Amino acid sequence: MHEVRAQVAGVPVAFDPIERVRAKDVVGRRVRLRGWVHRSRSSGGLLFLTLRDRTGTVPVTIRKDAVGAERFQAAEHVQLEGAVTVGGVVAEDPRAPGGREVRADEIEIIHAGEPFPIFKDQTEEFRLDNRHLVIRSQEFVQMFRLKATLLGALREFLAEEQVLEVTPPIITGNAAEGGSEAFAFDYFGRPGYLGQTAQLYLEAMLFPHERVYAITPSFRAEKSRTPRHLTEYTHLEVELAWCDLDGLIDFTERMFVTVLHRLADRCPAELRALGRDPAELSRLHAPFERVSYQDAIARLQGQGFPVKWGSDLGTAEERALTLERSAPIWLTHFPVELKAFYMLRTPDHPTTVEAADLLGPEGYGEIVGGSCREVDIDRLKERIQAVGASAADYEWYLDLRRHGSIPHAGFGTGIERMLRWIARREHIRDTTPFPRTPARHTP
Ligand code: 4AD
Ligand code: MG
Repeated sequence: MHEVRAQVAGVPVAFDPIERVRAKDVVGRRVRLRGWVHRSRSSGGLLFLTLRDRTGTVPVTIRKDAVGAERFQAAEHVQLEGAVTVGGVVAEDPRAPGGREVRADEIEIIHAGEPFPIFKDQTEEFRLDNRHLVIRSQEFVQMFRLKATLLGALREFLAEEQVLEVTPPIITGNAAEGGSEAFAFDYFGRPGYLGQTAQLYLEAMLFPHERVYAITPSFRAEKSRTPRHLTEYTHLEVELAWCDLDGLIDFTERMFVTVLHRLADRCPAELRALGRDPAELSRLHAPFERVSYQDAIARLQGQGFPVKWGSDLGTAEERALTLERSAPIWLTHFPVELKAFYMLRTPDHPTTVEAADLLGPEGYGEIVGGSCREVDIDRLKERIQAVGASAADYEWYLDLRRHGSIPHAGFGTGIERMLRWIARREHIRDTTPFPRTPARHTP
């Protein structure tokens, strides 16, 4: 039992986490709990509360004759999400979700609260305006526990693979993935940008460390109002020295499979609560199917999409390619023109790049973007010009091709994109507490 010491009304008191109520041999024992009122109903001389803390919820029954009329009346007036402490005895209650309730004879009101403004069936707009309160709901509690476990499992896997976590900057002077989609701001009289990717910095750190990764916020100023775009998201990026496309794909698959299996083992209840059977994750295994861009175009044409070589594949196309699948698929070898300037051309096939995107199954679409990087300085300069940027802005990056340039590859994955698939959310905003979209940057 993890007890916490706390000051209540000047007296140090030990509190139990609510999950303690469900422990073996606790029936008939006294517990002291504290938390927030999740539900409340009174009838005659009885008050039925559901109390919530970080470990769960429990029904608490308070009898007027046990606490006295005055305190009982005050307790009846505690609002939903008001904060209280209670003391009482654990009893069996077959009707309660966990099979137990607490019969309280002590209640202390920490904050009675104002009427809580969040109810069922309010509009999504209202719920987004009140996100700071809505995130107390069970759906979000499960989601953010899942997210924390996912981030932990990713870090654990990367540490096992001896990939070093590093801290690239967010404020930059170049817009790496294409100037039009970067948030620009005034940096003491010079242009500054919010990072869209840490990749170029990871590439610089690759030379001393060989395997590096970062988890940073990335920013995209695209006005895409789709269920899978945020303007700020959590970006995991990995950069590996001495790596080709097969090596990159193998590494990434291994990371996904390992991490998803661990997530299924560690968060079965959270996954089920969000509508994902953990067995669906445990069943995934590498390798994932690989489809070349060219074959994907042919498949899409077969499904009636008006696409041809050179067409960018958007949400609808990726959805069509993955709707019927239960495992992710790789899309590889895109036309040079569709991809970023730093990507390596396919040897003996100069119209495509050594790139691979991982598409989530069940229609979810792109969750990873990865590629081998161009190592030759002249070809790199050529591509920088071809995308309309200036080589002068990338001088420091070009230096990396002047001093021990080696084959290397890397990928980026949006943690919220992963979660949208894993937790089967319709909209990516429900995988992050305070979503940033073109329409909203508050609360
Ligand atoms: O495909 P992207 O743009 O690739 C890069 O940024 C590379 N520099 C990564 C690298 O190789 N180091 O973005 C990578 C991933 C996407 O596959 C997607 O999962 C996520 O970032 N992503 C977004 N997630 C949420 N909202 C958006 N607007 C996103 N844009 C990209
Ligand atoms: Mg991409």
